[in-house]
Amino acid sequence: MYVPEKIVTNEDLSKLVDTTDEWITERTGIKERHIASEGEVTSDFAARAGMEALKAAGVSPEEIDMIIVGTNSPDSLFPGVGPLVQGKIGAVRAGACDVQAGCTGCVYALAMASAGIGSGLWKKVLVIGAEALSRIVDWNDRNTCVLFGDGAGAVVLGATGGKNSVLAVELHADGALGDYIEFPGGLAAKPATCATVEAGEHFVRMKGNEVFKYVNRIIPPFVKDLCEQAGLDVSEIDSWIFHQANLRIIEGVLRRLHVPVEKAVVNLQKYGNTSAASVFLALHEGISGGKINRGDKTVLVSFGAGMTYGAIILEI
Ligand code: ACO
Repeated sequence: MYVPEKIVTNEDLSKLVDTTDEWITERTGIKERHIASEGEVTSDFAARAGMEALKAAGVSPEEIDMIIVGTNSPDSLFPGVGPLVQGKIGAVRAGACDVQAGCTGCVYALAMASAGIGSGLWKKVLVIGAEALSRIVDWNDRNTCVLFGDGAGAVVLGATGGKNSVLAVELHADGALGDYIEFPGGLAAKPATCATVEAGEHFVRMKGNEVFKYVNRIIPPFVKDLCEQAGLDVSEIDSWIFHQANLRIIEGVLRRLHVPVEKAVVNLQKYGNTSAASVFLALHEGISGGKINRGDKTVLVSFGAGMTYGAIILEI
């Protein structure tokens, strides 16, 4: 994983907008977040996390067949972050593209990589979740600016030639609820004009409370069904990695599943909601911190703009 150096605390934010450390901590669990400095872009974070993952896997950039990046805050619409990373790290043989599926982008990308390897199309895939959401939030809007952080996480997926470590995958979308989280301006529906800028249409907008209720309703039965698909009881899952959007959501979902919260990796207090990067940041810290060990059955679950949601059960 990689996060930019600059840290913005809740206290810092209380000087920018009408908020308090108490409100943010109580409603979200977030205490601070890392934010891109001037000149830093999503592809920088993605390339650094990608190189770290390759080093950890003992794989060289030249061995990678495909790079898939989950992101909602690309450097520009095109070229995508995937091709930019491919160029930056010298993955000369690799194809590269982005997946834009809200915060679920990393889970979607991981599922696509797994399917591509399973079909024999690719042998080694670099999957990255990377964001510089600080560049697309309205720093005058307390409803959104306190939530997000920047950073990237990466995973190298390879054919094992033996036991499949991806036990179950399920991806969903609910496009009728597209207006729950949106970034309306600047493209085909609303090309950029002075009016779209004045109306604040080039920023993330979110119906936070609707998202909160939706996720609490949808996610518990969804992950329970997925465990059943994998032939597992929920109690047999060793570790849980949720999209790090809100501690109350993580606790609420686990309560409904009768799973102790200690089984979840939670690092949103340090990084905020890093959108498509968050699950990989938590996976990295779960493994490096010794909470997730080899052989552990681990659920990665995310949800976000679209609305999209998805989950993967891995045997690490
Ligand atoms: N500081 C102080 N007060 C605030 C702040 C703030 N930063 N933000 C909102 N408030 C106020 C609101 O204005 C409202 O005031 P009012 O009652 O006078 O109108 C009050 O707090 C309550 O607002 P709610 O939105 O109802 O608060 P809620 O308890 O729902 O918490 C939150 C808001 C944290 C956003 C929560 O709804 C949440 O986490 N939602 C899920 C978000 C999410 O998971 N997104 C995932 C995907 S993101 C993506 O895909 C890019």
